[in-house]
Amino acid sequence: MRRAVQKLALVAESATACSSLHQQALAPLCTSATSALAQGASQSPLCQSNYRGRVFVPASTRGFAANSHDLFNQHKDTPDNNADNVFEWTEANLKRAQDIIDRYPPNYKASAVIPLLDLAQQQNYGFLSLPAMNSVAKMLEMTPIRVYEVATFYSMFNRSKVGKYHIQLCGTTPCRLQGAQHLQDTLEKTLGIHIGETTKDGMFTLSEMECMGACVNAPMLAVADYSGGVEGYSYNYYEDLTPADTVKIIEALRKGEKPKINSQYRNKAEPRGVIQDGKWTPSEGTLTLTTPPRGPIVTNPDL
Ligand code: FES
Repeated sequence: MRRAVQKLALVAESATACSSLHQQALAPLCTSATSALAQGASQSPLCQSNYRGRVFVPASTRGFAANSHDLFNQHKDTPDNNADNVFEWTEANLKRAQDIIDRYPPNYKASAVIPLLDLAQQQNYGFLSLPAMNSVAKMLEMTPIRVYEVATFYSMFNRSKVGKYHIQLCGTTPCRLQGAQHLQDTLEKTLGIHIGETTKDGMFTLSEMECMGACVNAPMLAVADYSGGVEGYSYNYYEDLTPADTVKIIEALRKGEKPKINSQYRNKAEPRGVIQDGKWTPSEGTLTLTTPPRGPIVTNPDL
């Protein structure tokens, strides 16, 4: 019975994975792969195939979904993250936590869940262990599952260990168009890891994130610095990046220095320019909105 249930789960997972490929041409293959599984094959042949140059690894062997946030927002039982560990607030953080809770009416204590998880994550050097989340649940008189749900939903919370510096590269369209892939290649080469991995010395974790709202200065990345606990915590953006800039940022962080934050070439979004061929290139003249605005469209001038 248990084997049958496991097989059904595998079939369902394969079907979901295959349908997510959105490739009509592959649909017949998906169907046949799914039925092959139903008939006893241990793994879908399609899921082993090379899809547009990428080996598609079935979720059952990966243990997590495709984007890098999902790599870190799942609980994995490890020696430093299991139900037997203890999480103790430091005295200073306990006071901070109490100050946060006091901002809300006593019957809406649960509203403090996000800032408290944030505080716990900073104290815990970048991730929310099970006991850290349980401690937040206890303080806010919430059932633990509700706290786990919040921690799992938001991409700024990590449920498994990350490096002292969490490098989060934007992988959404405007940054991609401006060369994010070159930054990714450079970061992976410089750090010797791929997206979703942590360096052996525990110093850097590399993630891909979705748009972080700095598209005007694309491409960009964010660094969460957990190296100094709550007191030293920072979350900074580095924008208008060339591949060489990303190397400089990594080298500076390695030496414990503070690299230049925000745009590397301008003040906010001025002057005009773009990263082109790996270089910051100022551009003259108006690129968009080249004529005066037309004003509102009036459909009936008598009104
Ligand atoms: S697309 Fe990268 S910040 Fe918006």
